[in-house]
Amino acid sequence: MCGIVAAVANRNIVPLLVQGLQRLEYRGYDSCGVAVHNGGLRRARSTARVAELLQQVSTEHLEGTTGIAHTRWATHGAPAVHNAHPHFSHGSGDEAEGRPGRIALVHNGIIENHEELRNRLKAKGYAFASQTDTEVIAHLVDSLYEGDLFEAVQSAIARLHGAYAIAVFCRDEPHRVVGARAGSPLVLGVGAEGSEHYLASDAMALAGVTDQIVYLEEGDLVDLQLGRYWVVDRQGDRADRPVRTVQAHSGAAELGPYRHYMQKEIFEQPRAIADTLDGIQAVVPELFEASGNHPAGEGAHHVFKQIESVLILACGTSYYSGCTAKYWLEGIAKVPTQVEIASEYRYRESVPNPHTLVVTISQSGETADTLAALRHAQSLGMRHTLTVCNVASSAMVRETRLAYLTRAGVEIGVASTKAFTTQLAGLFLLTLALAQAKGRLTESQEAAHLKAMRHLPAALSAVLALEPQIISWADDFAGKQNALFLGRGLHYPIALEGALKLKEITYIHAEAYAAGELKHGPLALVTSEMPVVTVAPHDALLEKLKSNMQEVRARGGVLYVLADADSRIESEDGIHVIRMPEHYGPLSPLLHVVPLQLLAYHTAVARGTDVDKPRNLAKSVTVE
Ligand code: G6P
Repeated sequence: MCGIVAAVANRNIVPLLVQGLQRLEYRGYDSCGVAVHNGGLRRARSTARVAELLQQVSTEHLEGTTGIAHTRWATHGAPAVHNAHPHFSHGSGDEAEGRPGRIALVHNGIIENHEELRNRLKAKGYAFASQTDTEVIAHLVDSLYEGDLFEAVQSAIARLHGAYAIAVFCRDEPHRVVGARAGSPLVLGVGAEGSEHYLASDAMALAGVTDQIVYLEEGDLVDLQLGRYWVVDRQGDRADRPVRTVQAHSGAAELGPYRHYMQKEIFEQPRAIADTLDGIQAVVPELFEASGNHPAGEGAHHVFKQIESVLILACGTSYYSGCTAKYWLEGIAKVPTQVEIASEYRYRESVPNPHTLVVTISQSGETADTLAALRHAQSLGMRHTLTVCNVASSAMVRETRLAYLTRAGVEIGVASTKAFTTQLAGLFLLTLALAQAKGRLTESQEAAHLKAMRHLPAALSAVLALEPQIISWADDFAGKQNALFLGRGLHYPIALEGALKLKEITYIHAEAYAAGELKHGPLALVTSEMPVVTVAPHDALLEKLKSNMQEVRARGGVLYVLADADSRIESEDGIHVIRMPEHYGPLSPLLHVVPLQLLAYHTAVARGTDVDKPRNLAKSVTVE
């Protein structure tokens, strides 16, 4: 999704800005641009990759000491150069047209009242060169400018409805950038010498530049000048936000022996799970105690004792980890659990229960719909909140009372893999903690579950060794247009996740069904051209699943079965079987999803798609 980098310095900052954009590329974008102060406003924009923007700025000798840069993921207006940021006030801002711009601006988010503002600004004589909601803000700041950029931005944001993070500079104030955030993340980077300062939508953009980060809060406005900065809150009062030392993530950007980040991240899963459990194992003796250092945060045990039900809110892959957790929470902890897509929950009328534990699940902790759903639940009086999240400094962690932090490390591939399995690990621990708080776990059950969790990294490594067999399946899938995924019980969400992975990165149409639903519709689609992936662990539903598989075979469908070692399903004509190394009981979803990730990955490689940056998708969806 859109990314922002900005800087005020006393050296040419174009390379720093473009490198910052490169670090944000993983989030997904369809155009990019950079603008600097150099006598007047100058910019370069492109619908190609950031690498090409780098070429362009060097060919055009674009240089300057104050500047802003952006990667855009189109919402209002097609992905085209004229819609790419930075936007200038006064139409195109193109000197050749004799209309030099005064304000340069980049924006993440969506301005909801852009139509109304556009009409007012047009009436004042502003010419629009794009279809974006962003250009409206540039003109608006211009219309309010009376010699002080900070004041102009402050007045402008008071007129905006919607979500934004912005960075702005002005032709008439060469060493100043003003930023503001409401609904979209923005951080301030403090330069090593204290003389130059930066803004970015994600601290990762500043990796290698500074590790001194200030997380701006909702409604904050920030003024960057050479050698000084200050922040004011939404009331206009000076705010002292702490400077945190944030570990640079640049190592995460190294591919090592892997061809793509997604492949690297799939193979990092044993370590990611081990790290996630480590963070929690450090306090395992206290995990089930009433007092002490509870891994979910202070007072967690007390909250877990009180709550009557769980409401899980999430989007995308994180939603499927929630769907899996429902089986654990009801099956093991016996706590009624509802899982809802965040964008649905936030807009529907629901019946709030103040004794519900609201659980948000998010890799980024910044997904707009999940955050809005959380705030909606809070506004309905639900104050017991917990997040399972991969980013400790994210809005989601800041806004919930309790948190299980996953330690997947930075995930760059748009298609989520290690974040999913670490979320499952966090959700399983939540299940155990709830079960214990409610007295629904015997000591021996607790010990058996914890033992199985500790063995997970080794079990995952054994599953990853199946890669060569998966590659042979991927060769079959590469030429297909459609695929069906079946699963039952705990593994139905895993079938959903497998289908999502395949469609995201291979563009093959894939659907997942609870296998019992086969006869109620999808069976009509089954032909020899429709591969049917079946997740078939050796559990109580295996015999029923085998009947579903016969229904597929009888219609000429070709089955690709992920069976356990002792499932007694043999490969034969039209049935391809891969055996999982061991049966893993309730934690089996963490293992069964891995071959499905590898299947999507290798099918995408065979089809030659852009694995890490699939078309139209973004890593972190910070707009609605
Ligand atoms: C986007 C990403 C998905 C992710 C979803 C939710 O769609 O491409 O991989 O599952 O957002 O993101 P979150 O950060 O909240 O888990």
